[in-house]
Amino acid sequence: MTASSATKITWLGHATVLVQTPKGTNILIDPFIAHNPKHPQGFNLPSKIHYVLLSHGHGDHISDAVPVAQKHGSTVVAIYELADYVAQKGVKETIGMNLGGTVQLEDVAATMVDAKHSSGAADEKGTHYVGVAAGFVLEVAGGPVLYHAGDTCVFGDMKLIGEVYHPSVAMLPIGGFYTMGPKEAAHACRLLAPKTVLPIHFGTFPPLKGTPEELAALVEPGVKVARWKPGEEFAA
Ligand code: NI
Ligand code: MN
Repeated sequence: MTASSATKITWLGHATVLVQTPKGTNILIDPFIAHNPKHPQGFNLPSKIHYVLLSHGHGDHISDAVPVAQKHGSTVVAIYELADYVAQKGVKETIGMNLGGTVQLEDVAATMVDAKHSSGAADEKGTHYVGVAAGFVLEVAGGPVLYHAGDTCVFGDMKLIGEVYHPSVAMLPIGGFYTMGPKEAAHACRLLAPKTVLPIHFGTFPPLKGTPEELAALVEPGVKVARWKPGEEFAA
């Protein structure tokens, strides 16, 4: 695709990703900004974030959901209980969906898919049940199919995600410890068959040791592993 018709994917460190479609829909996934040690310094979000997508309730995925949604008037899309939780925290517009469902977000069809991980949201009153962890498949009209895995281990049903949605770009956690590492992510690539992997959820904290170089050495020929830094963008 040419630059003008491309969907832009910008990594904001950890699992935080900004997706901007050629039609101007801006989607922020898993906003972790103020306390994210890898948030790119001086980076400013576009003037409007239309949708905030949350994969699960852990703080390193939702801590800036409420402030971003309030500032931008964003609609927060999450699994039912997590959508309810952020609504109670002051988000006005939410879409509380569930696994297997699809919502049309302007020119993007967003499907909530499986992930294998825990999900609880902690605040001063304790840890709250906010549904299960999920990933998202984003089908951009006339454009690419993107997959953001959220936090997960590798699991066999990634093959179904590949067969049903055919993502060309897969954003996969590779840091290990809380999620899969490079060895497992390489197998995820065999199941998903993406053209490009955009590694996320690595290098943020000392236990997240997996690197894109390790993953690149393990994937089948033909799968590209992006060596991106926070603040950099990929045109899909
Ligand atoms: Ni998590
Ligand atoms: Mn996480």
